[in-house]
Amino acid sequence: MSDSQIPFDKFTRNSPVVFFTGAGISAESGLATFRDPHGHWSKYDPMKLASADGFRQDPELVLEWYAARRKQAAAAKPNAGHRAITKFQKLFPNSAVITQNVDGLHARAGNDPVWELHGNIHRQKCFSCGSAADSGRDVSLRMNYCDCGGLLRPDVVWFGESLPLEVLNHAFDATSRCEIFFSIGTSTQIYPAAQLPYEAQNRGAFVIEINPETTPFSSQADLSLRAKSGIALSKMYEEFHAALL
Ligand code: OAD
Repeated sequence: MSDSQIPFDKFTRNSPVVFFTGAGISAESGLATFRDPHGHWSKYDPMKLASADGFRQDPELVLEWYAARRKQAAAAKPNAGHRAITKFQKLFPNSAVITQNVDGLHARAGNDPVWELHGNIHRQKCFSCGSAADSGRDVSLRMNYCDCGGLLRPDVVWFGESLPLEVLNHAFDATSRCEIFFSIGTSTQIYPAAQLPYEAQNRGAFVIEINPETTPFSSQADLSLRAKSGIALSKMYEEFHAALL
């Protein structure tokens, strides 16, 4: 990584900045990604565990898998990558996190605002009427029902479902206005989220990708770093801090 690749002189502390993240940023907190060799989708069929049809066919299996993931997410701690974003957000007050992650680790690290494109595993909603479940509801119980009689499901976006419109609007708005866009720990394969780095670049942002592996977006990024997010974001924060303060 080299300072000279980043046009620091183009930016000020008022520059709008976006941190767009995927499962890779939580890998250093011990949570599995989806498409890495040991990721969830190397072991499980996403259509059985992450689709409305899968839920209809075997709700117990789906709820059991999400209960296990919810437990892992609750036990995990934000890592150096999440904490570096917290520091970045103090340096750039006009910044936002857009995440595909459902684990809640960004908010727990103090990142704010956080736009969760794919929902949050710690919430539940009704599979029939869509109402949000009371947050006091004991989510450790596998089969829970809404007042309407419908079964509760995790409030996450499954394959074939639309992303929450308000969140999506905030994400595209922040992306279209930003001057610096970080794409961190995502394979950039799942749309519409994967469109965001392209959108940022088309609107003139400087796009920095951080990922130990190449992605379909890598060759197009203004700077593509083959690195883990904890180390890379911490180092990059020091570089921006030195250049802008
Ligand atoms: P993926 O599993 O597709 O990609 C994770 C990316 O993180 C890969 O490109 C890895 O190379 C990278 N990675 C691994 N360790 C890393 C580290 N320490 N630092 C930085 N990067 C690292 O996960 P997503 O791109 O988030 O959707 O997947 C997008 C969506 O597909 C998910 O939100 C999920 C999944 O199906 C839903 O559940 C709706």
